[in-house]
Amino acid sequence: MLEPLQFLPWLLTAVLAALWLFTERRRGRASRERDDSARALASASLRLTCISQAVESASDAIGIGDMESNSLYHNRAHLELFGYTVEELNAVEEPAALFADKTVAAEIHQSIRAGRSWHGETEIQTRAGRIVPAFVRADIIRDEQGHPIGIFGVFTDITERRTAERVRAEERERAARAERLESLGMLAGGVAHDFGNILTVVVCNAAGIRARKELSPAMDQRLAEIEVAAQRASDLSRNLLAFARGAEPKKQRIALGPLIEVAVRGAVQHGPVELILELAPDLAAVEADPVQIDQVVSNLAVNAVQAMPGGGKLRVVARNSDGWQGSAASSPISGTVVCITITDTGGGIPAEVLPRIWEPFFTTKARGTGLGLATVYAMVKKHAGTIDVQSEAGRGTTFTVVLPAAGPENKIRPGLIG
Ligand SMILES: Nc1ncnc2c1ncn2[C@@H]1O[C@H](COP(=O)(O)OP(=O)(O)OP(=O)(O)O)[C@@H](O)[C@H]1O
Ligand SMILES: [Mg+2]
Repeated sequence: MLEPLQFLPWLLTAVLAALWLFTERRRGRASRERDDSARALASASLRLTCISQAVESASDAIGIGDMESNSLYHNRAHLELFGYTVEELNAVEEPAALFADKTVAAEIHQSIRAGRSWHGETEIQTRAGRIVPAFVRADIIRDEQGHPIGIFGVFTDITERRTAERVRAEERERAARAERLESLGMLAGGVAHDFGNILTVVVCNAAGIRARKELSPAMDQRLAEIEVAAQRASDLSRNLLAFARGAEPKKQRIALGPLIEVAVRGAVQHGPVELILELAPDLAAVEADPVQIDQVVSNLAVNAVQAMPGGGKLRVVARNSDGWQGSAASSPISGTVVCITITDTGGGIPAEVLPRIWEPFFTTKARGTGLGLATVYAMVKKHAGTIDVQSEAGRGTTFTVVLPAAGPENKIRPGLIG
């Protein structure tokens, strides 16, 4: 039998071992906890660094302010977009300074105060006074208890998107206009020809009766009115026909110089204007219908002369150019082109009239048919060309017709049509 005391060393060893194990485990846990919290700290600081770097290098302009709209932070894109330095921004007391429409800042502030974020498209204003279209988002920054402590503003420059939208809208408008003109041309062509013949009979007979001696003055006056009205109707149907025929040009290789000169000299007979003609001697040849090109130039020149009833200057320039960039009214064309510009010093076309000038039957003249420019437009399009207009109230108007050149080997000496 073993005495109880004989177990004592064993018992002591076991207790000491348990104690040692316990202490070691505690020490292990403490060191693991230390490691964990160091790791947590490191990852929190990494997260903060990432967030601040992301905000700083974001391509959108970001600004942070307190609830009183005092500025606290602006990223690089903000400084670049608005053009202010940090010090200047801190000194800008009114956030309205950043917006073209000064009521927007107040609207944002009101929305934030009411606990709502704000977003929308507006125009911002840079330090240099440049107006930039922007999508703006203003969100509320809240503390851990949910109390609002600041405003987070993001400004996205949408100039490119707006430009692309405008180009698309212009293209749609151009296509719709071309379609409208084409269908009207087909319709008009059917009616105009016979209508013109009928009117010729009316005009001739009225003139024939008036030639008789025994007419009373009152009768003569009435017949004269019939003659004038029928003549106007005849002009209208002739213009309609020209408009309709714009659909089928009979193209040949031609030199434009002599053609332009004849058309313009004919037009200036209509008014007391000074003509300045500048035709480049090396004008490229074009594939075109000479009758239609004559009508195009005549219509534009007559309009110009009519815009200067009290006299003025008509400047007609024709030159070659390497491509045409296009504009709000005209499409771009690549390769060599011939540009014919017809400039007058008349009263100009009012901004509200400008979008309508190409419409058939649109006229501001008491005796106009409103088919001149519609015809010009249809004819130029049928020659794969384009037409541009620039007008300034009180300063005058410039129409530019752009036609593709026939080819590099086709330069024709001035004076030749072939
Ligand atoms: N050079 C110009 N200066 C000012 N306004 C112009 C000029 N050219 C055209 N317009 C405006 O455009 C409108 C349409 O011109 P368009 O040539 O189609 O018809 P119109 O000249 O009025 O009539 P028509 O050509 O049948 O005599 C004109 O009535 C005028 O208001
Ligand atoms: Mg006209």
